[in-house]
Amino acid sequence: MTPSRLRLEGVGKSFGDLTAVQDLSLELAVGESLALLGPSGCGKSTVLAIAAGLLAPDAGRVLLDGEPLTAAGKLGFMPQRDLLLPWRRLIDNLILGPELQGVPPAAAREQARELLPLFGLAGFEDAWPAQLSGGMRQRAALLRTVLAGHDTLLLDEPFGALDALTRLGLQDWLAAMRERFGWTLLTVTHSPEEAVYLADRVLVLSPRPARPAARIDIDLPRPRVPALRADPAFGQQVGRVLTALGLT
Ligand SMILES: Nc1ncnc2c1ncn2[C@@H]1O[C@H](COP(=O)(O)OP(=O)(O)OP(=O)(O)O)[C@@H](O)[C@H]1O
Ligand SMILES: [Mg+2]
Repeated sequence: MTPSRLRLEGVGKSFGDLTAVQDLSLELAVGESLALLGPSGCGKSTVLAIAAGLLAPDAGRVLLDGEPLTAAGKLGFMPQRDLLLPWRRLIDNLILGPELQGVPPAAAREQARELLPLFGLAGFEDAWPAQLSGGMRQRAALLRTVLAGHDTLLLDEPFGALDALTRLGLQDWLAAMRERFGWTLLTVTHSPEEAVYLADRVLVLSPRPARPAARIDIDLPRPRVPALRADPAFGQQVGRVLTALGLT
């Protein structure tokens, strides 16, 4: 059996008298890709922040590789709103993770520069965050998460603010990178198609408080390739997710 990377057991979280998450359990195996889908405001970002160790649950516990998670920073985490530092140029935003880990800035910049074209950011390394479009800022935040060097990534609507075509291109990129590096992924998305394309399993959450409403194994071949989007089998899996969401 594949070992468990991340486990949430009976997790609950309230903000004052608002219960955001209730009795939520999920398991992410090493190398697995799980998508979290659910109505706006149901508690998805809260679940991800708990999984990242950034927010302590009121109930239940989080296990990383079988041990209670005690600190943040052990997993790659991309928040829903990009958090580029306005006083740092793009390139110096990108190297934040390696820099905190003690990598000399010149070497970290070199590594970041190599990936700029892949993320559609070539030529913008010296731009200030305010000079970038919304989509560029989001791609930069994703690249920064990748450069931090973790093999388990928690992504909160990583492509949410992008136009449809850029979004499909980055889904292809993420699917390919996952195969290449063996990443373990937990991705929040609002898109059933994106969930099916990126994930081995989809966890559909109920309206707030977030609780598992359906668990769907996605029965499609890997690696995911663009032609799959035109395959009737793809539409069938998307249909299952839509049904679980009560949308068919
Ligand atoms: N720090 C906080 N303080 C108070 N309430 C909060 C806080 N964070 C989240 N909430 C509330 O918890 C609920 C769940 O929020 P959360 O951001 O997890 O939802 P979400 O599913 O990610 O929504 P969306 O799809 O719109 O991103 C919301 O009602 C929100 O107002
Ligand atoms: Mg959210």
